[in-house]
Amino acid sequence: MTRSFLLVLALVFVAAPASAWGPRGHRLVAELAAAALTPAARAQVDLLLRGEAEPTLAGVANWADELRANDPDLGRRSAKWHYVNIGESGCEYSATRDCPNGDCVIEAIRTQAAILGDRTQPLPVRRQALKFVVHFVGDVHQPMHAGHAHDKGGNTVQLAIPGGSRGGRGSNLHALWDSGLFRDLGESEARHAARLQALPGITAGSADPTDWARESCAIVLQPGVYPPRAKLDPGYVDTWRPVAERQIALGGRRLAALLNDALGD
Ligand code: ADE
Ligand code: ZN
Ligand code: ZN
Repeated sequence: MTRSFLLVLALVFVAAPASAWGPRGHRLVAELAAAALTPAARAQVDLLLRGEAEPTLAGVANWADELRANDPDLGRRSAKWHYVNIGESGCEYSATRDCPNGDCVIEAIRTQAAILGDRTQPLPVRRQALKFVVHFVGDVHQPMHAGHAHDKGGNTVQLAIPGGSRGGRGSNLHALWDSGLFRDLGESEARHAARLQALPGITAGSADPTDWARESCAIVLQPGVYPPRAKLDPGYVDTWRPVAERQIALGGRRLAALLNDALGD
Protein backbone atom coordinates (compact mmCIF):
# COMPACT_ATOMS: atom_id res chain seq x y z
CA MET A 1 0.00 0.00 0.00
CA THR A 2 1.30 3.43 -0.88
CA ARG A 3 1.62 6.22 1.66
CA SER A 4 -1.06 8.30 -0.05
CA PHE A 5 -3.47 5.37 -0.10
CA LEU A 6 -2.93 4.91 3.63
CA LEU A 7 -3.47 8.63 4.12
CA VAL A 8 -6.78 8.47 2.25
CA LEU A 9 -7.82 5.47 4.33
CA ALA A 10 -6.92 7.33 7.52
CA LEU A 11 -8.91 10.39 6.44
CA VAL A 12 -11.95 8.29 5.62
CA PHE A 13 -11.97 6.61 9.00
CA VAL A 14 -10.86 9.49 11.21
CA ALA A 15 -13.22 12.05 9.64
CA ALA A 16 -15.83 14.00 11.60
CA PRO A 17 -16.89 12.52 14.95
CA ALA A 18 -20.53 11.54 15.39
CA SER A 19 -21.04 14.61 17.56
CA ALA A 20 -20.37 17.17 14.83
CA TRP A 21 -22.98 19.43 13.16
CA GLY A 22 -21.37 18.41 9.94
CA PRO A 23 -18.70 20.40 8.18
CA ARG A 24 -21.30 21.71 5.72
CA GLY A 25 -23.57 23.06 8.46
CA HIS A 26 -20.75 24.84 10.28
CA ARG A 27 -19.30 26.29 7.08
CA LEU A 28 -22.72 27.60 6.00
CA VAL A 29 -23.37 29.32 9.34
CA ALA A 30 -19.95 30.97 9.06
CA GLU A 31 -20.41 31.97 5.41
CA LEU A 32 -23.80 33.56 6.08
CA ALA A 33 -22.35 35.45 9.05
CA ALA A 34 -19.34 36.68 7.06
CA ALA A 35 -21.69 38.29 4.55
CA ALA A 36 -23.37 40.33 7.29
CA LEU A 37 -20.36 41.74 9.16
CA THR A 38 -19.88 45.46 9.63
CA PRO A 39 -16.65 46.89 8.17
CA ALA A 40 -15.17 47.24 11.67
CA ALA A 41 -15.93 43.63 12.62
CA ARG A 42 -14.66 42.41 9.24
CA ALA A 43 -11.35 44.19 9.78
CA GLN A 44 -10.99 42.56 13.22
CA VAL A 45 -11.85 39.11 11.83
CA ASP A 46 -9.28 39.54 9.05
CA LEU A 47 -6.64 40.57 11.59
CA LEU A 48 -7.43 37.68 13.94
CA LEU A 49 -7.42 35.03 11.19
CA ARG A 50 -4.19 36.21 9.52
CA GLY A 51 -1.90 33.20 9.08
CA GLU A 52 -4.67 30.57 9.16
CA ALA A 53 -4.54 28.01 6.34
CA GLU A 54 -7.98 29.17 5.17
CA PRO A 55 -8.28 32.63 6.76
CA THR A 56 -12.08 32.95 6.62
CA LEU A 57 -14.85 32.27 9.15
CA ALA A 58 -15.88 29.20 7.11
CA GLY A 59 -12.27 28.05 7.01
CA VAL A 60 -12.04 27.88 10.82
CA ALA A 61 -15.66 26.83 11.50
CA ASN A 62 -14.84 23.14 12.02
CA TRP A 63 -11.59 23.60 13.95
CA ALA A 64 -13.22 22.88 17.35
CA ASP A 65 -14.39 19.46 16.16
CA GLU A 66 -10.88 18.56 15.00
CA LEU A 67 -9.31 19.27 18.40
CA ARG A 68 -9.80 15.73 19.64
CA ALA A 69 -7.26 14.66 17.01
CA ASN A 70 -5.04 17.77 16.90
CA ASP A 71 -4.91 18.96 20.52
CA PRO A 72 -6.25 16.15 22.75
CA ASP A 73 -5.88 18.16 25.97
CA LEU A 74 -7.91 21.15 24.72
CA GLY A 75 -10.23 18.67 23.00
CA ARG A 76 -10.97 17.02 26.36
CA ARG A 77 -11.38 20.30 28.22
CA SER A 78 -13.80 21.63 25.57
CA ALA A 79 -15.72 18.39 24.90
CA LYS A 80 -18.85 19.51 26.79
CA TRP A 81 -18.87 22.99 25.24
CA HIS A 82 -20.57 21.64 22.08
CA TYR A 83 -24.03 20.93 23.56
CA VAL A 84 -26.46 21.39 26.45
CA ASN A 85 -29.06 18.75 27.26
CA ILE A 86 -32.32 20.42 28.32
CA GLY A 87 -34.90 18.17 26.67
CA GLU A 88 -35.75 16.36 29.92
CA SER A 89 -36.70 19.65 31.59
CA GLY A 90 -39.09 20.72 28.82
CA CYS A 91 -36.38 23.03 27.41
CA GLU A 92 -36.00 25.05 30.61
CA TYR A 93 -32.36 25.87 31.37
CA SER A 94 -30.78 25.98 34.82
CA ALA A 95 -27.09 26.90 34.77
CA THR A 96 -26.30 25.05 38.01
CA ARG A 97 -28.15 21.92 36.92
CA ASP A 98 -27.47 21.86 33.17
CA CYS A 99 -24.09 23.60 32.95
CA PRO A 100 -21.89 22.83 35.97
CA ASN A 101 -18.55 24.70 35.83
CA GLY A 102 -19.78 26.53 32.72
CA ASP A 103 -19.16 23.39 30.66
CA CYS A 104 -21.94 23.59 28.07
CA VAL A 105 -22.54 25.34 24.79
CA ILE A 106 -24.55 28.23 26.30
CA GLU A 107 -21.87 29.35 28.74
CA ALA A 108 -19.05 28.52 26.29
CA ILE A 109 -20.54 31.01 23.80
CA ARG A 110 -20.76 33.68 26.52
CA THR A 111 -17.24 33.02 27.84
CA GLN A 112 -15.54 32.87 24.44
CA ALA A 113 -17.46 35.92 23.14
CA ALA A 114 -16.21 37.90 26.17
CA ILE A 115 -12.60 36.85 25.49
CA LEU A 116 -13.02 37.69 21.80
CA GLY A 117 -14.26 41.19 22.60
CA ASP A 118 -11.57 41.91 25.20
CA ARG A 119 -8.91 43.95 23.39
CA THR A 120 -6.53 43.55 26.34
CA GLN A 121 -6.24 39.81 25.60
CA PRO A 122 -3.33 38.64 23.43
CA LEU A 123 -4.17 38.05 19.75
CA PRO A 124 -3.66 34.26 19.85
CA VAL A 125 -6.10 33.99 22.76
CA ARG A 126 -8.68 36.09 20.91
CA ARG A 127 -8.06 34.10 17.72
CA GLN A 128 -8.86 30.86 19.55
CA ALA A 129 -11.95 32.46 21.09
CA LEU A 130 -13.15 33.50 17.62
CA LYS A 131 -12.76 29.93 16.34
CA PHE A 132 -14.69 28.59 19.33
CA VAL A 133 -17.49 31.15 18.96
CA VAL A 134 -17.96 30.49 15.23
CA HIS A 135 -18.25 26.77 15.94
CA PHE A 136 -20.45 26.85 19.02
CA VAL A 137 -23.01 29.28 17.58
CA GLY A 138 -23.37 26.66 14.84
CA ASP A 139 -23.67 23.81 17.33
CA VAL A 140 -26.35 25.45 19.48
CA HIS A 141 -28.54 25.74 16.36
CA GLN A 142 -28.31 22.00 15.68
CA PRO A 143 -31.44 20.88 17.55
CA MET A 144 -29.85 17.62 18.76
CA HIS A 145 -27.15 19.68 20.51
CA ALA A 146 -29.87 20.94 22.88
CA GLY A 147 -31.76 17.69 23.25
CA HIS A 148 -32.04 14.82 25.68
CA ALA A 149 -29.31 13.65 28.05
CA HIS A 150 -30.62 10.08 28.22
CA ASP A 151 -29.81 9.36 24.55
CA LYS A 152 -26.84 11.75 24.30
CA GLY A 153 -28.66 14.09 21.95
CA GLY A 154 -29.86 11.25 19.72
CA ASN A 155 -26.43 9.63 19.44
CA THR A 156 -27.71 6.35 20.89
CA VAL A 157 -30.84 6.26 18.69
CA GLN A 158 -29.89 3.83 15.91
CA LEU A 159 -31.98 4.27 12.78
CA ALA A 160 -33.29 1.70 10.37
CA ILE A 161 -32.93 3.28 6.95
CA PRO A 162 -34.38 1.38 4.00
CA GLY A 163 -31.83 1.06 1.23
CA GLY A 164 -29.28 3.52 2.47
CA SER A 165 -27.19 4.98 5.23
CA ARG A 166 -28.19 8.62 5.20
CA GLY A 167 -27.00 9.22 8.70
CA GLY A 168 -23.48 8.19 7.80
CA ARG A 169 -21.49 5.93 10.08
CA GLY A 170 -23.82 4.42 12.65
CA SER A 171 -26.88 6.01 11.05
CA ASN A 172 -28.12 7.44 14.31
CA LEU A 173 -30.53 10.31 14.82
CA HIS A 174 -27.79 12.72 15.90
CA ALA A 175 -25.65 12.02 12.83
CA LEU A 176 -28.72 12.42 10.62
CA TRP A 177 -29.25 15.98 11.91
CA ASP A 178 -25.51 16.78 11.86
CA SER A 179 -25.02 15.88 8.24
CA GLY A 180 -27.35 13.17 6.89
CA LEU A 181 -30.16 15.61 6.11
CA PHE A 182 -27.84 17.39 3.66
CA ARG A 183 -26.34 14.32 2.02
CA ASP A 184 -27.06 13.72 -1.68
CA LEU A 185 -28.38 17.26 -1.96
CA GLY A 186 -26.51 17.70 -5.25
CA GLU A 187 -25.98 21.38 -4.47
CA SER A 188 -22.64 23.14 -4.20
CA GLU A 189 -21.79 24.86 -0.93
CA ALA A 190 -21.96 28.25 -2.69
CA ARG A 191 -25.46 27.61 -4.09
CA HIS A 192 -26.59 26.20 -0.77
CA ALA A 193 -25.36 29.36 1.01
CA ALA A 194 -27.09 31.61 -1.55
CA ARG A 195 -30.35 29.71 -1.14
CA LEU A 196 -30.25 29.95 2.67
CA GLN A 197 -29.27 33.62 2.45
CA ALA A 198 -32.50 34.22 0.51
CA LEU A 199 -34.83 32.40 2.94
CA PRO A 200 -37.68 34.70 4.02
CA GLY A 201 -38.45 35.56 7.62
CA ILE A 202 -34.99 35.04 9.13
CA THR A 203 -34.21 37.69 11.75
CA ALA A 204 -31.67 37.42 14.56
CA GLY A 205 -34.16 38.16 17.33
CA SER A 206 -32.78 37.43 20.79
CA ALA A 207 -29.03 37.78 21.36
CA ASP A 208 -29.18 35.39 24.34
CA PRO A 209 -27.70 31.91 23.69
CA THR A 210 -30.12 30.52 26.29
CA ASP A 211 -32.99 31.44 23.95
CA TRP A 212 -31.16 29.83 21.02
CA ALA A 213 -30.78 26.57 22.96
CA ARG A 214 -34.45 26.68 24.03
CA GLU A 215 -35.55 27.06 20.41
CA SER A 216 -33.34 24.17 19.32
CA CYS A 217 -34.71 22.03 22.13
CA ALA A 218 -38.29 22.90 21.15
CA ILE A 219 -37.60 21.44 17.71
CA VAL A 220 -36.36 18.18 19.28
CA LEU A 221 -39.69 17.94 21.15
CA GLN A 222 -41.79 18.37 17.99
CA PRO A 223 -43.78 15.27 17.07
CA GLY A 224 -42.06 13.22 14.37
CA VAL A 225 -38.47 14.29 15.03
CA TYR A 226 -38.00 10.93 16.75
CA PRO A 227 -39.28 8.62 14.01
CA PRO A 228 -41.67 5.89 15.18
CA ARG A 229 -39.84 2.58 15.79
CA ALA A 230 -36.66 4.42 14.69
CA LYS A 231 -37.66 3.69 11.09
CA LEU A 232 -36.99 6.52 8.67
CA ASP A 233 -39.67 6.95 6.04
CA PRO A 234 -38.79 8.69 2.75
CA GLY A 235 -40.67 11.84 3.77
CA TYR A 236 -38.52 12.41 6.86
CA VAL A 237 -35.76 14.28 5.08
CA ASP A 238 -38.22 16.38 3.04
CA THR A 239 -40.00 17.38 6.25
CA TRP A 240 -37.01 18.15 8.45
CA ARG A 241 -34.30 19.42 6.08
CA PRO A 242 -36.05 22.83 5.77
CA VAL A 243 -36.19 23.03 9.56
CA ALA A 244 -32.46 22.32 9.83
CA GLU A 245 -31.74 24.83 7.07
CA ARG A 246 -33.75 27.53 8.81
CA GLN A 247 -31.65 26.87 11.91
CA ILE A 248 -28.47 27.35 9.86
CA ALA A 249 -29.77 30.63 8.46
CA LEU A 250 -30.70 31.81 11.96
CA GLY A 251 -27.28 30.76 13.24
CA GLY A 252 -25.63 32.83 10.52
CA ARG A 253 -27.63 35.97 11.39
CA ARG A 254 -27.00 35.56 15.09
CA LEU A 255 -23.30 34.86 14.67
CA ALA A 256 -22.99 38.05 12.60
CA ALA A 257 -24.82 40.05 15.30
CA LEU A 258 -22.59 38.59 18.02
CA LEU A 259 -19.39 39.33 16.08
CA ASN A 260 -20.56 42.85 15.14
CA ASP A 261 -21.26 43.49 18.82
CA ALA A 262 -18.00 42.00 20.12
CA LEU A 263 -15.75 43.42 17.41
CA GLY A 264 -17.47 46.65 16.42
CA ASP A 265 -16.17 50.02 17.49
N1 ADE B 1 -23.14 13.88 24.37
C1 ADE B 1 -24.14 13.95 25.27
N2 ADE B 1 -25.14 14.73 24.83
C2 ADE B 1 -24.75 15.18 23.62
C3 ADE B 1 -25.35 16.04 22.68
N3 ADE B 1 -26.54 16.59 22.88
N4 ADE B 1 -24.68 16.30 21.55
C4 ADE B 1 -23.47 15.75 21.34
N5 ADE B 1 -22.86 14.93 22.19
C5 ADE B 1 -23.49 14.64 23.33
ZN1 ZN C 1 -23.38 16.97 16.50
ZN1 ZN D 1 -19.23 20.77 17.73
